[in-house]
Amino acid sequence: MAYTAIDLIEIKRDGGALSADAIEWLIAAYTDGSVPDYQMSAMAMAILLNGMNNEELAALTEAMLNSGEVMDFSNIAAAKIDKHSTGGVGDKISIPLVPMVAACGIYVPMISGRGLGHTGGTLDKLESIPGFRTDMNADRFRALLVAHRLVLAGQSETMVPADRKLYALRDVTGTVPSIPLISSSIMSKKLAEGLDGLLLDVKTGSGASIRELDRSRELARTMVGIGASHGVNTVAFITSMDQPLGNEVGNANEIKESIDVLRGDGPQDVTELTMVFGETMLELGGVDGGRERLEDVIESGAALEKFVEVAVAHGGDPSVIDDPSLLAVAPHEAMVAAPGSGYVTQCDALTIGVVATHLGAGRERKEDTIDPGVGITLKAKIGDIVQRGDPLAIVHYSDEERWDAQRESLATAWTISDQPIPTPDLIIERVDVTTT
Ligand code: URA
Repeated sequence: MAYTAIDLIEIKRDGGALSADAIEWLIAAYTDGSVPDYQMSAMAMAILLNGMNNEELAALTEAMLNSGEVMDFSNIAAAKIDKHSTGGVGDKISIPLVPMVAACGIYVPMISGRGLGHTGGTLDKLESIPGFRTDMNADRFRALLVAHRLVLAGQSETMVPADRKLYALRDVTGTVPSIPLISSSIMSKKLAEGLDGLLLDVKTGSGASIRELDRSRELARTMVGIGASHGVNTVAFITSMDQPLGNEVGNANEIKESIDVLRGDGPQDVTELTMVFGETMLELGGVDGGRERLEDVIESGAALEKFVEVAVAHGGDPSVIDDPSLLAVAPHEAMVAAPGSGYVTQCDALTIGVVATHLGAGRERKEDTIDPGVGITLKAKIGDIVQRGDPLAIVHYSDEERWDAQRESLATAWTISDQPIPTPDLIIERVDVTTT
């Protein structure tokens, strides 16, 4: 049947359902360029506003998955397990996590994303290591996986090209927080990787793409269901994103913090989440040893060595891993000072993520480039006690005008109260196939 983009946009705009055939046509036409960005933006917004039923979601995921090569690693006997997050502020967990589990014997064929909306992206962070290349074709992806047990790539012309285009479009059109768009984006990439198991980190709270717990739960269940229906053993964790993870928000500074974790010296929240996810990936891969094994690869230096090995294989300069002070840092620094004394009861992830994006750590338009040295170093998080004038954050920025436009907004991220609040739980719940 012949379709036109305008007819399909109008069906979705008016609350109708698209046939599987129409969705397949739309995704193929968008991927080959015959449907332009402006029509796909309108469609993405219509999907965000009106949702999709299960049949539409299955068809969308399938069409995106089949837009490029679906890899088959069945000739690798060891378990192929990956991890993906729905996106957060300061969420660098994948970066220390995957060399740790690879050092324990798991194969990790990872296709990641760039920054999305106010949330950072693994690819942008990795590319702040000078020379680190994440663009590759399926042959190189396979070769790196076989040689190093770990490959870190982005969507490309040959691997999930539909998500490569749609992801970049959603980033700048306000169409990120949609359950069907997030789940098809994530699961198309993950199902193209030829996995045995998958761990999903579904963020919830102010800095998450989906903020409400019940909708985060729906997102987790939706993706676990898609994984199960494709024979991939999928586990999701719903975790808090009310405040940023760790103390660094940006790109190069998040690489530095990831190296701290690999050296056994990372912040408590990032280290704990990395350990819990590592244990679960080992469990999914049938590898014994759990947390003790992960602690061993940190203590012995094997996890850090794996990171260096993989960075070099991707063209990255290993000297910045040896000496993270060589990583990019923006030329200017400003302090956000506590306006009063008391307990920090809020350190708002959304505000901090939006400010970091506007300062250049993320994109406002598709063609924008990331400034890797821009970032925010948090000095006070929920539960800390501060005195008036103490630093709440140090901001690293390149452009005075941009900082002037953001300084007031950033100061609103913190609330300081007379009374402490209980430390919020980092891990809220685990969702398995059996619990969906
Ligand atoms: N990660 C993705 O790959 N896609 C999304 O839509 C959100 C997070």
